Amino acid sequence: HRHLLGIAGLSPTDIEGLLASAEKAVALSRQVEKKKATLRGRTQINLFFEASTRTQSSFEIAGKRLGADVMNMSVASSSLKKGETVLDTAATLNAMRPDIIVVRHHAAGAVALLAQKVDCSVVNAGDGAHEHPTQALLDALTIKRSKGRIAGLKVAICGDVLHSRVARSNIILLNALGAEVRVVAPSTLLPDGVERLGVSAFRNMHDGLDGVDVVMMLRLQLERMHGSYVPSVKEYFARFGLDAAKLAHAKPDAVVMHPGPMNRGVEIASEVADGPRSLIRDQVEMGVAVRMAVLEALARHLPNA
Ligand code: CP
Repeated sequence: HRHLLGIAGLSPTDIEGLLASAEKAVALSRQVEKKKATLRGRTQINLFFEASTRTQSSFEIAGKRLGADVMNMSVASSSLKKGETVLDTAATLNAMRPDIIVVRHHAAGAVALLAQKVDCSVVNAGDGAHEHPTQALLDALTIKRSKGRIAGLKVAICGDVLHSRVARSNIILLNALGAEVRVVAPSTLLPDGVERLGVSAFRNMHDGLDGVDVVMMLRLQLERMHGSYVPSVKEYFARFGLDAAKLAHAKPDAVVMHPGPMNRGVEIASEVADGPRSLIRDQVEMGVAVRMAVLEALARHLPNA
């Protein structure tokens, strides 16, 4: 593959290969000397049209650990503010001969469109409600390291599934590796025909969490709810916010995940976010490793590799 635009299009073998490579990157990242030379002499541009803490910083650290020159394009102070289009911006950056561009954009499909206009490899760091492939890969690595496997696990993805690229990428990946995936949300926050994605849908946490191995919470994406149904935060937390009482319906050894950024007291209570079953910090560590694995895989297909 020249680009990574989504989990759709990857085979189970591709996914397993990336997870195995990421395991080596975890080991490297825990050493005092954390660098290797896979991307030495290469240029990586991070182009984020939407806010990010985890994804942008971990792509920067991942690129630097592999020896690349990494440039973070500051969209807020760029000529996009003067009316230059996204595609003209891409063509401009392309003329500087980068090897990899990592892109986040608020519109589904924008990253794939940009990939058609440049000569280098493109990585999707999240496009609208479409896909966030490296998030799904880091979630899979976190689950695999905690539970020892993915096949056969029951995973509940809970909350704002409608607006979530994280949910979509995770559903595709977890199904590809043989997990049993559920979504748990009010009907207003489930896409029409969500079952067609290969999940069973639940409208309450009691039934949805019954006997699951993994509880994956999603952020309520209020910024994407223009004019549509906006739940009352108090009511939402009471019915769908994960606290110790709701988590008690899952298996006794169930783990808790959240891609971040978290809204404490909205979709998750601090008692579980910071509790002994939380893997939220592990997810962040795995984020760097998975992004190293993705950049290394793309590097094998760069010209003159
Ligand atoms: N999980 C995630 O994508 O976080 P950021 O928006 O902070 O990158």
